[in-house]
Amino acid sequence: MNRTVSYIRQPDFRVPLAKVTPGMTLGRNLEMNGRLLLRHGAVLDPERIGKLGKFGVDYVHVVFGDEDLDIYKGLLCCQDKPPDYHHLQCTIRDTFLELVPAWARPANCARDEKVIKLVNTTIEHTFEVIFSSRRLFELLRLSRMFQLEPLKHCPVTWMYSLCVGAGLGYSLPTLLDLSLSALFYDIGMLKVPQDILSKPGRLTELEFAEIKKHVYFGRRLLEAVSDFGFSMPLVSFEHHEHYYGGGYPKNKRGDSIHEFSQIVGLTDKFAALMTTRFHRDRFQPYQAYEMLLAQTKTAVSPRIFVAFLKHVLLYPRGSRFRLSTGEIAVPLDVPIKAPTRPRVLITHSANGHELLGLQREHNLAADPDLRIESFAIMDQYPSNISPEDIETLSLLD
Ligand SMILES: [Fe+2]
Repeated sequence: MNRTVSYIRQPDFRVPLAKVTPGMTLGRNLEMNGRLLLRHGAVLDPERIGKLGKFGVDYVHVVFGDEDLDIYKGLLCCQDKPPDYHHLQCTIRDTFLELVPAWARPANCARDEKVIKLVNTTIEHTFEVIFSSRRLFELLRLSRMFQLEPLKHCPVTWMYSLCVGAGLGYSLPTLLDLSLSALFYDIGMLKVPQDILSKPGRLTELEFAEIKKHVYFGRRLLEAVSDFGFSMPLVSFEHHEHYYGGGYPKNKRGDSIHEFSQIVGLTDKFAALMTTRFHRDRFQPYQAYEMLLAQTKTAVSPRIFVAFLKHVLLYPRGSRFRLSTGEIAVPLDVPIKAPTRPRVLITHSANGHELLGLQREHNLAADPDLRIESFAIMDQYPSNISPEDIETLSLLD
């Protein structure tokens, strides 16, 4: 398993030599006609940049640190700034964020404060970049697509992906790249015939083949907005590849699949399972987790799966359970080794009475006979909920 970690490299960005500034670090070996000019990790100083210019090098791959965020944004934004309609931008931003259900916002779904802060900062930078590029802004205007049935889960994928990336210690520029990739990865679905996307029953082989084309459509759409080493087209193309093979469209394996694609591939599956579809109800988090675990043997890198479990709450803040005893409980903490058996606080008796002053903790991991029977997530905590409410109050969608 350790082999996996050593193969993962920090994502780098393709930058025109004219935009390279002294102090940037080379992300890949730089070769010309089979001759090694500079090694990965070399720091570019004015002399080296000048020599590369003389050799006729047009682009280099560099890695960015947090302090380079402004340079990175400058590379993305320099092309085509639309007029700065600040008020309009704020309205669009807020409207878009409303597509993210309350339970999937960072404060409710990320496990620790540092990650929440980093994700929120990245979201703000993401909008700043989108509003500074006419082509990205046009993409965001397509965000109505997130109201389409098969794409409703994409804003949740976005949030989960950011939590995983922040948990993995990505720098801000890298998180920003992941953010744009995780926002638009399924945009190719817009070109799949609507009657196939909204078909309630089982898909025929031909129809499924049509759906699979969305990764090609997505890559083509995103290549048009992707300069300077953006990962968006690649992630759109690869997010259905499986770490141990068997995915599509190229049946890639292991770390030949970009780390962002692995993150988005995993969070896409989880977010989709947690969302109601035409042909099925949503799954509860522990059911979705168990299905995900069954798939992880073939689909997901162990490193990414562990980061997901460590940094995304399986039971977002605001969750309520009805236990097999009829009592109602809230989760206190979720053990990484047994995520579907949280430690809970029992707040209501089986007959629906609030246990004021008599609330007690219970460790489900130590009590295999006690089951979670139903589950709900609430924006607010009603002071008096009955067991029946848990069936009806679910606000997942
Ligand atoms: Fe997809």
